[in-house]
Amino acid sequence: MKSYYNLLFKRRSIRRFDPSLSVSKEELALINQKIESLIPLNSDIKTAFKIVKSEETTAKFGEYCIMAYSGEHPMKLLNIGYMLEQLDLFFVSINIGACWYGMAKTKEKMLDGLVYVIMIAFGKVTEVSYRTSSGEFNRKNITELWQGDFNQDIKNAAILAPSACNSQPWRIESTESQLSIYRKKSVRTIMTPRIRAYFNMIDMGIFLCFIDVLFDYYQIKYQKEFPSTFESNSDLVKIATYRVNN
Ligand SMILES: Cc1cc2nc3c(=O)[nH]c(=O)nc-3n(C[C@H](O)[C@H](O)[C@H](O)COP(=O)(O)O)c2cc1C
Repeated sequence: MKSYYNLLFKRRSIRRFDPSLSVSKEELALINQKIESLIPLNSDIKTAFKIVKSEETTAKFGEYCIMAYSGEHPMKLLNIGYMLEQLDLFFVSINIGACWYGMAKTKEKMLDGLVYVIMIAFGKVTEVSYRTSSGEFNRKNITELWQGDFNQDIKNAAILAPSACNSQPWRIESTESQLSIYRKKSVRTIMTPRIRAYFNMIDMGIFLCFIDVLFDYYQIKYQKEFPSTFESNSDLVKIATYRVNN
């Protein structure tokens, strides 16, 4: 995962593409190859990914869309967020612009018995489209998101993760040897509570991808644990615990 490290600071949602450029066959082959090597958060969950022309969906931008399908499982949304964020970052490395696209719809709601989860639109851009410094990210203040001591560089980089409507539902409590990662239910957004719960679980998977990239980059050895359910009456829903091996 550490090979994605530099890309965390470059990525941005791209919604405008260069119409004079198009994704080549070779690039599509590279993307398909990458899809085969995406690391799941939970390898028990069956997943499938399919690239279609954007016209086959309601997407308003992008030359192609990659659609994600999954078997039913409590970690379904986390797992797809975690896997597709690796692809989102990979796109930056091959100079292809991409944007998670929760609002776009497809008629193909099932694939090989798996249910449709979400898509990412992508297409060609020029290098200048990417971010060059963390100051270009519009994110909440770290003090609102993360309580407790931890490597400050990891804290600052993790919160650059993308989220639906930039809602940033992650809340973290840490000591130097443990991270407790929560989803805040009551984040303020224009999404309805049902849609928010759905997309924010995908966001949490994206956040875990960022954490894993950073832990691998800093050579921090850890174990992660997940609760058996993500249903909770409390505003902070436990998503994962990371125990650092000293
Ligand atoms: C799960 C998810 C769904 C999203 N859905 C949409 C969408 O439907 N339309 C859109 O324009 N952007 C969408 N986005 C992009 C977010 O608005 C964007 O990631 C966020 O504002 C942060 O900006 P950045 O990605 O440029 O860092 C989505 C992002 C995520 C993670």
